Amino acid sequence: MISVNPEVSSVSANQVTDPSQLTAEQTALEMKNLNLFYGNKQALFDINMKIPKGKVTAFIGPSGCGKSTLLRCINRMNDLVDICRVDGSIELEGKNIFDKDVDVASLRQNVGMVFQRPNPFPKSIYENVVYGLRIQGINDKRYLDEVVEKSLRKAALWDEVKDRLNDSAFGLSGGQQQRLVIARAIAIEPKVLLLDEPTSALDPISTLTIEELINELKETYTVVIVTHNMQQAARVSNYAAFMFMGELIEYSDTNQLFTAPSTKKTEDYITGRYG
Ligand SMILES: Nc1ncnc2c1ncn2[C@@H]1O[C@H](COP(=O)(O)OP(=O)(O)O)[C@@H](O)[C@H]1O
Ligand SMILES: [Mg+2]
Repeated sequence: MISVNPEVSSVSANQVTDPSQLTAEQTALEMKNLNLFYGNKQALFDINMKIPKGKVTAFIGPSGCGKSTLLRCINRMNDLVDICRVDGSIELEGKNIFDKDVDVASLRQNVGMVFQRPNPFPKSIYENVVYGLRIQGINDKRYLDEVVEKSLRKAALWDEVKDRLNDSAFGLSGGQQQRLVIARAIAIEPKVLLLDEPTSALDPISTLTIEELINELKETYTVVIVTHNMQQAARVSNYAAFMFMGELIEYSDTNQLFTAPSTKKTEDYITGRYG
């Protein structure tokens, strides 16, 4: 059986078990009748879910079930795929992100994303962190210095890099690079942070550091993480959504999903019958 992080499950002791019962106040994102097609092939089927504010929600399920596709909808990364068509809605704090008047650039400022492989830019550590601010035209050195320190502290990287902020980001280890990318994402103060298998390219120690970091980040942000590692989902998330072949099969409090799944498919998956 999967063991659930007591630190997270103590939170889950007094949280709403069924996320469909979340109030508008408690909801960061809501998907309504979301269907997605790549050409003729449907990849998401009628997804309805509320993602809680200030918590960590994990998308789990076997490879190819649509986890990344669903995650990428949230900051409209799928816009970049020509053959991709979406219907239904995703509301970010009540506003449909697919509405015509939504500016995608500002949506992506509110919804940051971190990928599987760390992707620092070929710039210094400092310039990586302030990248999004410079794009916004912010160049005040004192302000940028503050943001760099604050973001790197939040990303649990400050102590390791404070004496070499002007060195190339490529000199950092993989785990450090991933924390740098997280610092870059939070420097622009998004509301939501999307993490797509953020530790799958990292060693176990770096993975642990990132998992601890995710636990801290939810104090400030709504975090949505895709992982195919169930132990990781159990360790870091408050809520977990099990997907299978483009459908949302079961979505609940993480503790409940792993200890008392309500469908046979979920149970088969978490007990390793397929994967
Ligand atoms: N850019 C794309 N073009 C066409 N099909 C895609 C594309 N991205 C993903 N798919 C298909 O959509 C389905 C879901 O993929 P994905 O969201 O990547 O799954 P997961 O992240 O759970 O492994 C798969 O069948 C995959 O082949
Ligand atoms: Mg994926």
